[in-house]
Amino acid sequence: MSLLTMQEILSESVAKHYAVGAFDTFDHSMTEAILRAAEGVDRPVILMVVEPLFQAPHFEWFFKYLVQRCEESTVPVALHLDHGFSFEGVMKAIRYGCTSVMMDGSNLPYAENVALTRKVVDVAHACGVTVEAEIGHVAGHEGNMLEGNVADESAFTKVEDARRFVEDTGVDALAIAFGTVHGVFKGEPRLDYERLKAIRETVSIPLVMHGGSGLSPEAFRKAVDNGINKINFFTGLSLGGANAIIKTVEERRKKLQFGDLVGAGMEGVSAIVREHIGIFGTQPLGR
Ligand code: 13P
Repeated sequence: MSLLTMQEILSESVAKHYAVGAFDTFDHSMTEAILRAAEGVDRPVILMVVEPLFQAPHFEWFFKYLVQRCEESTVPVALHLDHGFSFEGVMKAIRYGCTSVMMDGSNLPYAENVALTRKVVDVAHACGVTVEAEIGHVAGHEGNMLEGNVADESAFTKVEDARRFVEDTGVDALAIAFGTVHGVFKGEPRLDYERLKAIRETVSIPLVMHGGSGLSPEAFRKAVDNGINKINFFTGLSLGGANAIIKTVEERRKKLQFGDLVGAGMEGVSAIVREHIGIFGTQPLGR
C-alpha cells in the first residue's frame, strides 16, 4: 500500500532539504506517464487532480482507478487536490479518495482566507487528510502558453503573513508567492530568494512553489536550497507530451497508429518527470 498523505510524503523534506514533484493529471495516460516515471527512479511523488475533473463524464470511475493505482504503486504517492476553490469541491475530493487537498483562498482577503482554510483543516484532519493553502498569490493559469504570465510583486507573500497564517489555520504545507507564475513566463523569471529564505526561517512546515514550469535547473536548485519542499509542475509536462507527439509525427508520418502517438506523448511526459525528480533532489522516504 503506497497511498500516503502529503504530510507523510513531505515528512523528511524540510530536515533533508529536498523537494518532491507534484504533477497534475487529467486522464489515464498522463497518470501512468507520471507514476511509471517515479517508479522507474524509485522516488516518492505527488499526483494532483483539479476540481473541473468532477465535471468529466464517469469521473467516479477515474477516481476509483486513481486510488487503486496509487495504492498499488511501488513508490509512495499522495493523491492531492490542486487548487480547490470551494469548500464543496474540497469535500468532494476527500469523498473520492484524495489524501491531501489544497484550499486556495489566496484571492480572498486575509480573514476570509483564514476562516475558509480553518474550516477545511478541521474537516480534513478529522478524515486523516492533510491540507495545503496559499498566502500571497501566484498569478496566471496553468497551461497558458499563448501570451505568457508576469509575476505580480505586490501579491508576493509577506514573511509576517506566512507566520500568522500557519498559526491561524493549522495547515500542513504552505504555498507562497515569490516570483513564479502559473503557465509560461513572459520574459525572464526573477525569483525573490531572500524573501523565500526569510519565510523558511520563520515557518517550520513544508513550503510549496506553484508555477514550476519554465524555470532553469539552477533556479529550481536555488529554490530548494532556500527552503522549497513541494514543486507544482504542469504546463511543461503538457507541452513536453505534445512536442514528443509532434516529433513522432514528423519522423514517421505515414507509419503511425493511435497507440504510437499516445505512447510517444507518455514517454515525453515521463522523461520530463524523471528529469525534474532528479533536479528537485527528491529522496526515498525512510532511508
Ligand atoms: P505550471 O503549469 O506553471 O507548471 O504550474 C503548475 C501549478 O502550479 C499547479 O498548481
